[in-house]
Amino acid sequence: MRDRMAAMASSLWPARLHHLRRDSPKPEPLARFYGELLGDRVAPLPDGSWLVAGRNRRLVVGEGTAGSVPYFALEVQDAAQLAAYRHELRHTEDFVSPLLAEGAFAVRDPDGRRIAFGVAKADMPSSGLPGRLQHFVCATQRLPEMLEFYRRLGMVESDRVLEGEALAAVFLRSDPEHHSFAAFRAPESRPDHHCYETTGWLDIRDWADRMGSLRIPLWWGPGRHGPGNNLFFMIEDPDGHKVEFSAELELMPRAMPARTWPHEQRTLNLWGSAWMRS
Ligand SMILES: [Fe+2]
Repeated sequence: MRDRMAAMASSLWPARLHHLRRDSPKPEPLARFYGELLGDRVAPLPDGSWLVAGRNRRLVVGEGTAGSVPYFALEVQDAAQLAAYRHELRHTEDFVSPLLAEGAFAVRDPDGRRIAFGVAKADMPSSGLPGRLQHFVCATQRLPEMLEFYRRLGMVESDRVLEGEALAAVFLRSDPEHHSFAAFRAPESRPDHHCYETTGWLDIRDWADRMGSLRIPLWWGPGRHGPGNNLFFMIEDPDGHKVEFSAELELMPRAMPARTWPHEQRTLNLWGSAWMRS
């Protein structure tokens, strides 16, 4: 209850996923992969990493462990919201990014991943199919601690999946969209996927046709998730990190209480088969 009250009072709301960093031992080929996948611009950044930027989506690809996502960044509306939010948090560190205005900062979650908060710099010119970077999901060895941490950040729990009494997955929102972050339990902590939200079912068709022309097989879907009620399919990038395309993600008012789902295939995909990863 205390966490729920804290979330209701937090200055985090509203915040949206702005970009994330996806690392690989050889970042340029991975950046080129995403550029082709999304039809987006690929450009080197001053620190040696790469920016893949398009229509409401940005990805930083850097040198690091294959498949890793060392941070994701949430965008708040203005400097006043950012300052008020930083004032509420303990243990923040400055965060410098060419994509965020001065004043950005970061915290570290129980898995060691950084979450940055900032005000977005003016966007680059963009084109391509509609797909706004919308959420990030990780697997974790310490799901209860992650849930507590993200709720204390001011995120609001939307849904939880239970196996008996045990938490199997949690979904949290930072604006009315059902989740901007989610996590599921696993033997090892690792990133799982990030998602592009489209404008509707026909966009899902167009993205799937694009995957077909690029000879990238769909890894899972199309289907409809239980939590979030969104239409989706997923593909894998060259390191096995999943990329999701989604439509019709549920909207939930800030005060709407969290719901509970059983840990079964139908929860992951109302239409049928699911990869039970937790
Ligand atoms: Fe997802």
